[in-house]
Amino acid sequence: MQGELRTVRVARKTIEATDVCAFELVDPDGAALPPFAAGAHIDVHIAPDLVRQYSLCGDPDDRARYLIAVLRAPNGRGGSSAMHDAIHEGQEIRIGEPRNCFPLERETQPSLLLAGGIGVTPILCMAERLSRVGTGFEMHYLTRNRERTAFYERIAGSPFAASVTFHHDDGPAGQRLDIPALLERHKGRSQLYLCGPEGFLSFVRDTAREQGWPDKAVHFEYFSAAPASAGDDHEFVVELASTGQRLPVPPHQSVVEALAAHGIDIPVSCGQGVCGTCLTRVLAGEPDHRDYVLSAEEQARNDQFLPCCSRAKGELLVLDI
Ligand code: FES
Repeated sequence: MQGELRTVRVARKTIEATDVCAFELVDPDGAALPPFAAGAHIDVHIAPDLVRQYSLCGDPDDRARYLIAVLRAPNGRGGSSAMHDAIHEGQEIRIGEPRNCFPLERETQPSLLLAGGIGVTPILCMAERLSRVGTGFEMHYLTRNRERTAFYERIAGSPFAASVTFHHDDGPAGQRLDIPALLERHKGRSQLYLCGPEGFLSFVRDTAREQGWPDKAVHFEYFSAAPASAGDDHEFVVELASTGQRLPVPPHQSVVEALAAHGIDIPVSCGQGVCGTCLTRVLAGEPDHRDYVLSAEEQARNDQFLPCCSRAKGELLVLDI
């Protein structure tokens, strides 16, 4: 794992919506926490070998506390259940430094913010920031129903409430979001930021691409990813440019795991191709990109890849390590 770890105390644990718990984290001695900007996340070390990433959704100007919100994922990998069931008020946990792979790139430009479910956490922080700096934005927040709408009151009572529209799956047809029409209306004049489940993000990104949105204007963060394996993985070799050492990557191992088995550690956080921590330069060979971080343009350049999930199309990759 990357970066320094610090101990924080769970000052408050509250039910924010159905299946969503919010955790307020403070320094045990009352010290200020490291700064962060909208879109940042932290690693939470829930238990040994159980690390998950959660977006910070509190006020970046409040250095006294971090706020995260966790959706219980019944078919998840165990992190969210452990957060709900095993982490309690008063408990101390270890967290990493805030990192931001999903920043507001152009906070002076009009923005279109789209949140699906618990993907609201970074998007809400962005809305508050844009509101504070006076940049115009439009936010759409899609959830199954009102009970599953985390931070409803905070948003409805905010100074920017008029810029936010809620859409519930169980609501009348008229309040459903027409994503293609919305994107068409904003094309060429807004930056698009979106966070949510994979199907939602894929649909929005595909629609934006079909409509001719430039990659540079589309910013996104997946909060979990489908298994990266295509099921027919082949063995290949990675060469470390600094030493010329060549190491095999068997079908059942990631590049990160294969290198770690030989004592070469690449910093890793999510392990699923969603955070960008393990980004590594590629000097030769063609990566088989399986991440959710690089844009299509960046992937096509084949000069970098995410070795926690991506592999090689051919027999050899030369890495800038
Ligand atoms: Fe998150 Fe590789 S560790 S993308």
